[in-house]
Amino acid sequence: MKRYILHREAEAELVDAAVYYEQQRKGLGGEFRRAFAENPVLVFRDRQLGAADIAAFGRRFGVPRKHALVKYRHPDHEEVSWLTNVEEDGQIDWYGVKRATEWHTDSTYEARLPLLAMLHALELPSQKGGTMFADMCAAYDALPEGMKERLAVLTGLHGRTDGPAGERLYGDDKGATEKRYTEVAWPAVVAHPVTGRPILFVNPMHVHGFEGMTREEAWPLIEELAAHATQDRFTYYHSWRVGDLLIWDERATMHRGAGDYRPDERRIMLRTIVYPN
Ligand SMILES: [Fe+2]
Repeated sequence: MKRYILHREAEAELVDAAVYYEQQRKGLGGEFRRAFAENPVLVFRDRQLGAADIAAFGRRFGVPRKHALVKYRHPDHEEVSWLTNVEEDGQIDWYGVKRATEWHTDSTYEARLPLLAMLHALELPSQKGGTMFADMCAAYDALPEGMKERLAVLTGLHGRTDGPAGERLYGDDKGATEKRYTEVAWPAVVAHPVTGRPILFVNPMHVHGFEGMTREEAWPLIEELAAHATQDRFTYYHSWRVGDLLIWDERATMHRGAGDYRPDERRIMLRTIVYPN
């Protein structure tokens, strides 16, 4: 079966280091846009970036936004998140350990969707601790025609952690935020803003139903779509090296932390999520 390759490393043909630095000088042109649309996860190796660099890079694409959980905001640049699994006193932060380890697309429970996210590895556990991505355009393309017809008329209902994977992961332990969320509706299939390709826009963390459908009918459908989309042929496991910077398309992918590392070994990432201007 054909292996779907999601990423290109910095040395590869589409987005090499030269293009990266050119974009830094001249702004983000069509070449980057096209490369990114065709490769929804871009991997840059061997960067040494601080929070100010991540914030500045994020602003080249749009508007970076601060984390909903205050404790994860970087003290100097609040639009950059400092994600860790171990507190400064050495205690394991269990919310940080399990956070985001089920499949999801970020913030689909909000009225505005992010454009992209960046994650930069500062410290890593001795083994594993990867991040997984699923290509939701490829997943859509491979659906049976009957399912495509069914989804064409469905509208998904999104909440913060209300879907089956959200319930599994967080139950009653959702972490305190300063924001209140109401339900948001999105079509089950949306068009990619650059390529126009259909995206399967249903993720099991945030989608907890479909308009006009009972929960008994909706949850098995959500689980079925998630199982379909996360088959090996649509997914990529990123094995982190210190210095990696990943940029991913926040509309055309799902992701999750693999959650497969020793929780007492520090794993520290800088992250920002960028919204369109
Ligand atoms: Fe996420």
